[in-house]
Amino acid sequence: MREVYRTMELTVADLAPDPVEQFAHWFKETAANPAIHEPNAMVVSTAAPDGRPSSRTVLLKHYDQAGFVFFTNYGSRKGRELTANPYVSLLFPWHPLARQVIVTGRAERTGRDETVAYFRTRPHGSQLGAWASHQSTVIESRAELLARYEELHTRYPEGEQVPVPPEWGGFRVVPDAVEFWQGHENRLHDRLRYVRDGDGEAWRVERLSP
Ligand SMILES: Cc1cc2nc3c(=O)[nH]c(=O)nc-3n(C[C@H](O)[C@H](O)[C@H](O)COP(=O)(O)O)c2cc1C
Repeated sequence: MREVYRTMELTVADLAPDPVEQFAHWFKETAANPAIHEPNAMVVSTAAPDGRPSSRTVLLKHYDQAGFVFFTNYGSRKGRELTANPYVSLLFPWHPLARQVIVTGRAERTGRDETVAYFRTRPHGSQLGAWASHQSTVIESRAELLARYEELHTRYPEGEQVPVPPEWGGFRVVPDAVEFWQGHENRLHDRLRYVRDGDGEAWRVERLSP
């Protein structure tokens, strides 16, 4: 299976001065494309301290100059790995546009206030689901999960405020590099990567061979 890409060239002159602004341009175009079902779905890769990697999809819930935020269970595999080793990679697979964006950086926990504010925006059912699931642990059956959910539903019926589970919260990925990849014909793809210059807000852009 091989796609022939008919796409616009991406040049350094086209890029925004910083990667978050550039991400915002592409994200807007992605969100407007009906072929992309969940534009904010991204693959998060983590590594255990012994170097073994693992990946999974999560939803990007917020981004700004401070970083890229997703929410999860801190006790999950990814949560434990990021607690031990904060280096992380995010990948946005926007295939219908022949694009991908790859963010690498360090993950830090969001503040509790930010977590609580986001949790309150979630539907009642998914708030209960966050309590019901001890994410990434082995369970005997689906019935066990459903029973836990039902029990929680009785304790916190619709309309009753569900407390935020202590193990649940956000990670903010503070980028140190962001690559914008645009596919083209004959494998002559564009790869432009912003790399943070020192510890500050300055970025340099480099072109990578496809
Ligand atoms: C489209 C999609 C969106 C998802 N969004 C999230 C999310 O925002 N947070 C989350 O914890 N898991 C999310 N998941 C589930 C994760 O992929 C994963 O199964 C779960 O977080 C446990 O991962 P871990 O055991 O590697 O920590 C999503 C899965 C899919 C397919």
